Amino acid sequence: MKQDMIVILDLGSTDNTGLAREIRGLGVYSEIYPHDITPDQLKNLPGIKGVIINGGPNHIIDGTAIDVNPEIYSSGIPVMAASHQTAQCQLSLESWPNDEKAKEQLLKNFVFDTCCAQPNWNMKNFIDDQIELIRRQVGDKKVLLALSGGVDSSVVAALLIKAVGKQLYCVHVNHGLMRKGESQSVIEVFQNQLDANLIYVDATDRFLDKLAGVADPEQKRKIIGAEFIRVFEEEARKLEGIDFLAQGTIYPDIVESGTKTAKVVKSHHNVGGLPEDLKFQLVEPLKQLFKDEVRACGKELGLPDEMVYRQPFPGPGLGVRCLGAITRDRLEAVRESDAILREEFKKAGLDKTVWQYFTIVPDFKSVGVRDNARCFDWPVIIRAVNTIDAMTAAIEPIDYDVLGKITDRILKEVKNVNRVCYDISPKPTATIEWE
Ligand code: XMP
Repeated sequence: MKQDMIVILDLGSTDNTGLAREIRGLGVYSEIYPHDITPDQLKNLPGIKGVIINGGPNHIIDGTAIDVNPEIYSSGIPVMAASHQTAQCQLSLESWPNDEKAKEQLLKNFVFDTCCAQPNWNMKNFIDDQIELIRRQVGDKKVLLALSGGVDSSVVAALLIKAVGKQLYCVHVNHGLMRKGESQSVIEVFQNQLDANLIYVDATDRFLDKLAGVADPEQKRKIIGAEFIRVFEEEARKLEGIDFLAQGTIYPDIVESGTKTAKVVKSHHNVGGLPEDLKFQLVEPLKQLFKDEVRACGKELGLPDEMVYRQPFPGPGLGVRCLGAITRDRLEAVRESDAILREEFKKAGLDKTVWQYFTIVPDFKSVGVRDNARCFDWPVIIRAVNTIDAMTAAIEPIDYDVLGKITDRILKEVKNVNRVCYDISPKPTATIEWE
């Protein structure tokens, strides 16, 4: 392994990830481990240069205060005790100053002077290390990957193509609820440019037939999820001799799944859902990366910006934006209006500043007038939000000129639409998606 590492021991801090990101920001790799790691396990971690014991309010479990094994202090590895109560790192020793800059300096002193860690955490070294690890894990066996075209699965695919080439089999299921041009771009990048083994399954009819007449949002989501697994499973069974399943699990998935001291934020669900008799070993090369690092990795691997900086897109796709029972014509109106919105946001530079933006088409019509005659058509609703973690969100005020241009284009170019609305509701009470 090429990188030095500072280990954070989780002694109940509420922000271990903040500290890890801070250290990685200094160019030094950092990982979080549970407080009860043994001194031997600690010493055997590759590249370990120092330990920060990160205390905080969650250090009482079932009424008892937890602590690290005291032998860690005499293990020969430099140790610093810290308390990371807020976004700011505060050493629990008297010497820790309140001033943020002096904050930063102490951390630097510990990492570089005390631990003598080298700032060698960069994407090139990460990719080289992962290629070696993947080759060691996979050998000459075959690997399967569900390639949605999202950032994480695309970066995993690009990394695995580098590591094991044609031993990787990517399955891209087009459920008919993708955005305009999305499946084509997966084919273009992975099949045509990177020469991957890509199995493209156009399952549009199958999904839309199953969804026909289903108006309940939860029911729609369940049908899409279950059908996706069924299609993927069918393709997996056709391929013989697959031993490994690659997944785009990233660091927050693991951290949010709960540590010994923190409550579960949400269960890590990447592995859930696949039938038990499809027995694969997992390959998860991004599981130590934060989202921005995944993007940097994708850039380093040469993936196009549209893929690397792709905004979040829900698993059920446009299915939750074509409200109520999905019909093909309304789905087309969502897809076309979304494409216009994305194009105009890009022209206005808003694709760089707005976290998520899309259109919705409800299942009701309103009266309008076109070519001097009454028309009865659907509205298109624009949603544009900014958020840190998607748990809460604020609307992004869009300039009226931009809104006007988008409205003009939607009314001219999208069939059966006579009205454009702009959703200014924050989350809560509205969620980001409408279903
Ligand atoms: P809500 O609508 O809950 O959305 O405010 C929060 C964020 O999650 C995305 N989202 C999903 N992502 N599968 C996903 O992978 C889903 O089923 C799903 N539902 C919502 C949504 O786009 C937003 O970014």
